[in-house]
Amino acid sequence: MRVVSGIQPTGNLHLGNYLGAIKNWVKMQDRCECLFFLADLHAISMPHNPAELSASTREMAAALIAAGVDPEKSILFNQARVPAHAELQWLLNGTARMGWLNRMIQFKDKSGKNREGASIALFAYPVLQAADVLLYKATHVPVGEDQKQHLELARDIAAKFNADYDTDLFPLPELYITGSATRVMSLRDGRAKMSKSDPSDASRINLTDEDDMVAQKIRKAKSDADVLPSELDGLDGRAEARNLINIYAAVADVEPQAVLAEYAGQGFGAFKPALAELLVESLRPIRERFVALKDDVAATDALLAKGGEKAAALAQPTLDEVYRTLGLLR
Ligand code: TYM
Repeated sequence: MRVVSGIQPTGNLHLGNYLGAIKNWVKMQDRCECLFFLADLHAISMPHNPAELSASTREMAAALIAAGVDPEKSILFNQARVPAHAELQWLLNGTARMGWLNRMIQFKDKSGKNREGASIALFAYPVLQAADVLLYKATHVPVGEDQKQHLELARDIAAKFNADYDTDLFPLPELYITGSATRVMSLRDGRAKMSKSDPSDASRINLTDEDDMVAQKIRKAKSDADVLPSELDGLDGRAEARNLINIYAAVADVEPQAVLAEYAGQGFGAFKPALAELLVESLRPIRERFVALKDDVAATDALLAKGGEKAAALAQPTLDEVYRTLGLLR
């Protein structure tokens, strides 16, 4: 198994990223060859501040290490240090179809009413994402549910490339979406996903939030006046309640049904303090490690440079093969 996944270094690492993706990365690094990266090339698809991008790339690297990604076990780097990502994207642009990209939800969401003014990078974003995983011939890509459409596109690109050039160069990467929090929802609205771009900070728990802040956000999280049911289907139509149960289950590493078995018949007055305590105790060590790591810029840079070298060495043979397959002389 070769595992590849990435995260955009914009904003803070939040509970959605952690439970949807990073926690699985940490589990996989003991069993598989893993490459994890900061998707800084993706971050320039939206207007950005260059100084903030470099600072948040380093901070996100520190946050991943604090959350358990071990650079001794996994290859950790930032995309920009491995030019093969951008090169392969260009080579795959010949295979990706306009129609496929036109159907991407993220482009529709992020360009909104201003399609004409959106960057080419925002439109071509999923091709770079395909390059990210195909470059390493990834077999498994651990992500949250919101990345499903992008990964399906990566499979389509790989399959079309293989068919067009009569090759089996790219294995089709499998999506690895697992756990009870594959789509963590906003604490303020059970129908919106928890996201770093939500203007309300109360909608998410950042892994840098202090204990009091975590407890306060859970206390104020939207819920309802009913007691918790004993069975999962009792949560139908109760999006906020379901979200809080899923979060508890994912953090405690148990099934949502087991959480209901413990809290059935109790209201949120009893459940919320238990959830807050669980979160505070679980996130505190991550925050403390992050605070200790984040200011050592030289150490982070050295680590990312080393990871970048290892990744570049793994990428080169695939890139060479793609050039050759396309008949490009070098
Ligand atoms: P990004 O930076 O938005 O998110 C990083 C990871 O966190 C997951 N995630 C969530 N999971 C559950 N609930 C949520 N509310 C939630 N919010 C985020 C995402 O699914 C993701 O796994 N395009 C990608 C980065 C990327 C990538 C790649 C991922 C670039 N190249 C190649 C995999 C493979 C992104 O913007 O993720």
